Amino acid sequence: MTHQTLLILDFGGQYTQLIARRVRELGVFSEVRRGDVPASDAKALGPIGIVLSGGPASIYEDGAIRPDPGVFGLGAPVLGLCYGQQAMAHLLGGQVEPAGSREYGAAELEADLTCPLFAGTKAAQRVWMSHGDRVVRLPDGFTVIGHTSNAPVAAMADEARRFYGIQFHPEVRHTEMGSRILENFLTICGARRDWTAASIRRDAVERIQQQVPDGRIIVALSGGVDSSVTALLCREAVGERTAPIFVDTGLLRLDEGDKVQARFATFGLAIDRVNAADRFFASLAGIEDPEEKRRRIGHEFIAVFEREAKRFPDARFLAQGTLYPDVIESTSVRGPSATIKTHHNVGGLPERLGLELVEPLRWLFKDEVRRLGEELGLPEEFVWRHPFPGPGLGVRILGEVTPERVLLLQRADAIFMDEIRAAGLYRRIAQALTVLLPVRSVGVMGDQRTYENVAALRAVITEDFMTADWFRFPDDVLDRVARRIVNEARGINRVVYDITSKPPGTIEWE
Ligand code: XMP
Repeated sequence: MTHQTLLILDFGGQYTQLIARRVRELGVFSEVRRGDVPASDAKALGPIGIVLSGGPASIYEDGAIRPDPGVFGLGAPVLGLCYGQQAMAHLLGGQVEPAGSREYGAAELEADLTCPLFAGTKAAQRVWMSHGDRVVRLPDGFTVIGHTSNAPVAAMADEARRFYGIQFHPEVRHTEMGSRILENFLTICGARRDWTAASIRRDAVERIQQQVPDGRIIVALSGGVDSSVTALLCREAVGERTAPIFVDTGLLRLDEGDKVQARFATFGLAIDRVNAADRFFASLAGIEDPEEKRRRIGHEFIAVFEREAKRFPDARFLAQGTLYPDVIESTSVRGPSATIKTHHNVGGLPERLGLELVEPLRWLFKDEVRRLGEELGLPEEFVWRHPFPGPGLGVRILGEVTPERVLLLQRADAIFMDEIRAAGLYRRIAQALTVLLPVRSVGVMGDQRTYENVAALRAVITEDFMTADWFRFPDDVLDRVARRIVNEARGINRVVYDITSKPPGTIEWE
């Protein structure tokens, strides 16, 4: 690989992935490893610099994860954040103590602007703190480069060795000059900024070519961004040896199946579309429990996919759009994240089919996949689409899923999406969806009493989908959506808007 790498050591901080994303946004590839990775492994990555993440522990706590002291001997600049700063101070001979009053939230940093880490920032700047401990004695070679009213060593540096420690989080938006500080660190590391959409594309295509010298790659195409980008990369890497299979479950958005087919046709890529809606509906008949629905949808999907895949006797590989956050979480110091729902609906497929997995996106964050999609020529409005769950509308119809209810929900949902786009709000919302409730309500239309379905609208803003807030729509948009749904989606006579944040609510209703 031709690009440089910045290594991020993870001590279990809630913002570790965010650090990795910010660094990549600044044009440098970053890789997250466990905080206690042996120095020899760290060295093997040839990092241009190392960031020590935050973490929940106190450095003196039993069981606190600590960096291998050898990482300070690799010759690479090191930046410690919060816990990372404390770990650095402790391991290099300084002293850390619990702070008298814990410092959480916003604070004002007085920064030494002559230090390259703070070049181009401000003498007084707002920063975001979240840690209970603080450095009280500097290790040899360090000087103080910033303080707050509560933290005399809010920032420290050993310029000769290029070691820096800051007690706040530059990766969160509440830290006013955070992005500039990270950028300065990358400059200190001698970053070439070679991580661009074009280089990501080259890199991904090369990896596929190396992994797949011959034989066919089957691509599980869902119609979403990740699997579409995966299919296009495979096609670029191995040409006609790519076989995209698209299982139309009947649980997609209005006309989605046709749109998927048309989109790939413009790339000259014929997809194998299997219309399996009947089979899914038969399997879901009478089922109301959400997890059981997910299980059945997953099961049907695997059965249909397996049957289709067997039509390609020379298939040896299965390409999937696994993303970097899934990879990080499976090796994280915090353990596999507490995914409450069974999100991975096609688990077990490669083993069953005896195929080797190809995961060209496993190094990428969602935003990078989107930029890569644009680079590959996918239309912007497609690439920036909101996430859509694997089980589709199956988990947005509360209670039993029937073809009639799917069609009703599709119509209401299409109106909601349409109005969101027309109001220019689509990109400001992280995810919007419509839910069909299993209750009926009384209404009046003309002179007639109605007794019909209720649709719930949901739209959220979020950085990571782990927490989310409901989107504040202008009144007139909600008003138009509600009127249109009741008038045009016959069978719905009431529309409600969900104002629950996550937590305690989830984004989906099931
Ligand atoms: P929740 O509802 O857990 O959703 O707040 C977080 C994100 O995950 C998506 N989601 C799913 N995606 N299969 C998927 O592929 C699923 O079963 C599933 N359930 C939720 C949800 O749409 C949101 O983006």
